[in-house]
Amino acid sequence: MRILFAALALLIGLGAQAHETLRLDAPKPDLAPTPPMGWNSWNKFACNVSEQLIREQADAMAGSGMRDAGYRYIVIDDCWQKSRDADGNIQADPERFPGGIKALADYVHARGLKFGLYSDAGVLTCGGRPGSAGYEFQDARQYARWGVDYLKYDWCATGPRNAEAAYTIMAKALRQSGRDIVLSICEWGTSKPGTWAHPVGHLWRTTGDIRDAWAGPKDWSHGLVDIIDMQADLWKESAPNGWNDPDMLEVGNGGMTTTEYESHFSIWAMLAAPLIAGNDMAKMDAATKRILTNAAVIAVDQDPLGRQARRIWREGSLEIWVRPLQGGDRAVVLFNRGDKPAEMRVSWDQLEWAAHMKADATDLWSGKKTARVAGQIGGTVASHGVLMLRLSPSGL
Ligand code: GLA
Repeated sequence: MRILFAALALLIGLGAQAHETLRLDAPKPDLAPTPPMGWNSWNKFACNVSEQLIREQADAMAGSGMRDAGYRYIVIDDCWQKSRDADGNIQADPERFPGGIKALADYVHARGLKFGLYSDAGVLTCGGRPGSAGYEFQDARQYARWGVDYLKYDWCATGPRNAEAAYTIMAKALRQSGRDIVLSICEWGTSKPGTWAHPVGHLWRTTGDIRDAWAGPKDWSHGLVDIIDMQADLWKESAPNGWNDPDMLEVGNGGMTTTEYESHFSIWAMLAAPLIAGNDMAKMDAATKRILTNAAVIAVDQDPLGRQARRIWREGSLEIWVRPLQGGDRAVVLFNRGDKPAEMRVSWDQLEWAAHMKADATDLWSGKKTARVAGQIGGTVASHGVLMLRLSPSGL
């Protein structure tokens, strides 16, 4: 009996200890009431990062209209780090970042922008650089000293680590660092972060990597429509300060058509996705800039209600997505994945509106407005394109 009691006490003790390690002392800081907007080096530049590149991109964000459109974070992804010093402090690659990270963060801040870095919960990053496993508190303090505002935290070389526990340790470390730092969880959706990450991080990847192509897998990455399909059932898990992240934008990287990039950007806005540009902002063509800075589409993404769209209808290659917005408006995307243009419409019934209610409609890509529509609305949707509408109830 005594042995049984002792065993029970031990089990309860271990349970309490396990719980203890998962407890966060400070609440999650309110840093992402709407989805974060910014730029990240990975999609275009992969490991070819340097302080010169980051300065160029910061200048471009500030000077091209991107900052005015709401983009803020300049995030260096993998390969900025080289080694640890004798005291375990993480060191930037001295050849690529001779001025050091602090000076670079200052440069970014001086342009009215925020600065982000990448690390990994394992012993190595996905690019084989030192990860933060075992160095979480030391790294977080270093990030704070450097002036880091955003950490993308990856999941390579994590062995049998539990994702919730590992990300909770880094969340704790960041909250004790003395600086407000957004935590971007990048474990590819494997452990269903939407079910545990709300107290921990501000956004979490829901899939493996996106690639700059319309469809189809390649290595660990997926084409645009495959990523979109993986988001359709996750709408309940997203909320202010805890966003589903379908990965960074490929708009402007050259692998898709302008129409396809408009669809990409539209659906990301419908999903309340973080808008993290992944192109070369210093060399944007007019179409790329027009897409990335479309204020009406960005307003849907940044809607303060923070509700993710649902795919409410699908038939063959045609589908309808609806997102409720603050004040009773609805954003609607009629999406045509097919090879030919299609006539599409959404009915008020599908929007859960009375058929006779009038609404003012705006086409968010052409800017065309139609007043006092009732019952249904639609039009011709290009192959691989969208018709994206904002509908505002305007009375009976
Ligand atoms: C993983 C992530 C990517 C990128 C690379 C860097 O694949 O999912 O977004 O950060 O690692 O190596």
